[in-house]
Amino acid sequence: MGEVDLAFFQDPDHRPKLSITEAEGIPLINLSPIISTPNSISDPIAIEGVVREIGNACRDWGFFQVINHGVSLDKLLKIEAVARKFFALPLEEKRKIMRDEKNILGYYDSERTKNVRDWKELFDFTVKEPTFVPSSPDPEDREVIEWYNQWPAYLPELRVVCEEYGREVEQLALKLMGLIALSLGLPEDRFTSYFKEQTSFIRLNHYPPCPSPELTLGVGRHKDGGALTVLAQDDVGGLEVKRKKDGEWIWVKPTPNAYVINVGDSIQVWSNERYHSVEHRAMVNSEKERFSMPFFLNPAHYTIIKPLEELTNEENPAKYKPYSWGKFFAHRQLSNYKKLNVENIQI
Ligand code: SIN
Ligand code: FE2
Repeated sequence: MGEVDLAFFQDPDHRPKLSITEAEGIPLINLSPIISTPNSISDPIAIEGVVREIGNACRDWGFFQVINHGVSLDKLLKIEAVARKFFALPLEEKRKIMRDEKNILGYYDSERTKNVRDWKELFDFTVKEPTFVPSSPDPEDREVIEWYNQWPAYLPELRVVCEEYGREVEQLALKLMGLIALSLGLPEDRFTSYFKEQTSFIRLNHYPPCPSPELTLGVGRHKDGGALTVLAQDDVGGLEVKRKKDGEWIWVKPTPNAYVINVGDSIQVWSNERYHSVEHRAMVNSEKERFSMPFFLNPAHYTIIKPLEELTNEENPAKYKPYSWGKFFAHRQLSNYKKLNVENIQI
């Protein structure tokens, strides 16, 4: 990534302001009441409080941060360190494990969002390597994409560290789905069956310094399509969230050892819009490189996503038609190669 090519330029309407708005940040939620440690006693009132805070944050922002989340700092520090080592490898090494139309996991340095190049390089891997193709169960309608991890030959520790970290962050994501279910008045395990098998994956993001941060974005504005995203970001910052109440872009201040959580399109549909998947983007800067690491909690490829019956009735009819997660996911993943313009969920 040298000079800034035109392909990275955002439309004038979508360029970042660089002056940051953080007067009212996204909610910060302390999860300690729901994380059991050897000496902790479960306190139902405190748990109810957490559930309420999560519900309010999902309704009003679609985004929140969590602290005391149970993922060990040691594992987080290890994966951050190995991510730096990975991106410092020579480009030709990274390109040996390049993601492509055939396998959507691996290294990639030409990511596009809404057809504009993102100022970044990334590495995708899955925690639960499935044996299936995440596409439509209907053979007539199948877009074949494969799904297997690719690890760099010269950095064997990457695999070990990624797998260990992945297991812990997955537990946090599933725990949060349980709390979200409770906040919707549903049983805690209401979503569990959707994640017995998963198309979840983790992305390591590296945003190099950019000579023209006012024209470009590390990730252009978008919504996440899956259920939930659990993002670790370093102390450089750059993530911005579109505030629901007025459409203002709000800076997400990096908080030490916190995760940024956001509702994806699937929760928006399951909840019949009680909760919203909100647009976000990542700015870059001219001085510092930035690293971030989202875990995308995605359901099994054969899941049909539709508003939950418990949350719809005559006065509040379903706002979405059922759709196949596998098909939606395959289409979205392939859009980068086919230059498709991918919008979010359609009614
Ligand atoms: C993303 O939304 O894809 C990444 C956001 C970030 O790097 O902060
Ligand atoms: Fe995102």
